[in-house]
Amino acid sequence: MPTIVAPFPTARLRRLKKSPALRALVRENTLSPADFIWPVFVVAGENTRQPIESMPGVERLSVDLIVEAAREAADLGISAICLFPYTDASLKTEDCAEAWNPDNLTNRAIRAIKAAVPEIAVMTDIALDPYNINGHDGYVVDGEIVNDTTVEALVKMALAQADAGADILGPSDMMDGRIGAIRVALEAAGHQNVTILSYAAKYASAFYGPFRDAVGASGALKGDKNTYQMDPANSDEALRLVARDLAEGADMVMVKPGMVYLDICHRVKSEFGVPTFAYQVSGEYAMQMAASQNGWIDGDKAMIESLMAFKRAGCDGILTYFAPRAARLLAGR
Ligand code: PBG
Repeated sequence: MPTIVAPFPTARLRRLKKSPALRALVRENTLSPADFIWPVFVVAGENTRQPIESMPGVERLSVDLIVEAAREAADLGISAICLFPYTDASLKTEDCAEAWNPDNLTNRAIRAIKAAVPEIAVMTDIALDPYNINGHDGYVVDGEIVNDTTVEALVKMALAQADAGADILGPSDMMDGRIGAIRVALEAAGHQNVTILSYAAKYASAFYGPFRDAVGASGALKGDKNTYQMDPANSDEALRLVARDLAEGADMVMVKPGMVYLDICHRVKSEFGVPTFAYQVSGEYAMQMAASQNGWIDGDKAMIESLMAFKRAGCDGILTYFAPRAARLLAGR
């Protein structure tokens, strides 16, 4: 078939790029502060802020300041705040009992936020690593991360967080069977409406480095997390994990890290059509901050472009350390 060449371009796609109004009219995706879950680091003390060297612009905050941060986030229209505790070395033990202490840092922060800023959703992380002397997400017995006894501990941790008033529980440990066990325990305890956002497809990633500094786990971690987190080479396995976690009672699922796994976000959303989140993790944040602080990229533009990529890939929302900065930018503040 000979190609017929018209005397003008048959599709002038530039017509729709002519003005901001036309570009806005045909824009396929939008980004809003409501899409954000803001991860924050909680530290003991009062009126205490500690900068994290590998995460410029991010600080550990004491509970009183976390409440102020939650107030500001709610005013900016951010939907949820996700708590990560910096646990003092003296509280790390082999049995990780601090994880389900009703008065641990996370549970105190949940209560304080829910009392002062009830409109923001509070999310937590469920994994033993902040409390474990060896930095792993599960119990270590004879050099192995044991599954089933870890799940029993995670259930206690989940119940303590639900009792404290958490809206969204985020199991990030990658043990088998934890979603089902947590769901059964929540129902039995009368917490029918506590949601679970499962870290379903969580990869063994080099991009978690700065986070482990932030929670004080870097020095503690012995070995790697390859026997429970996903192999970065795998994609079908992510779908299998998501299907499994949904069947066990997860309400929402997460892909983590985010930018290096946008293909997984897209496959998960296309296949299941359930609320799907991506975690733009500490290393992804650090890379963008480092480049922009060197003047090598435009930080604001790169931030918005990277966040929009998650929406384009099909995500319903994003866990991002950029949340307040992006929300302010979107609001023109
Ligand atoms: C631990 C946990 C990690 C992150 C969230 N929860 C680290 C890890 O698995 O080692 C990483 C988040 C980030 O890098 O921003 N269960």
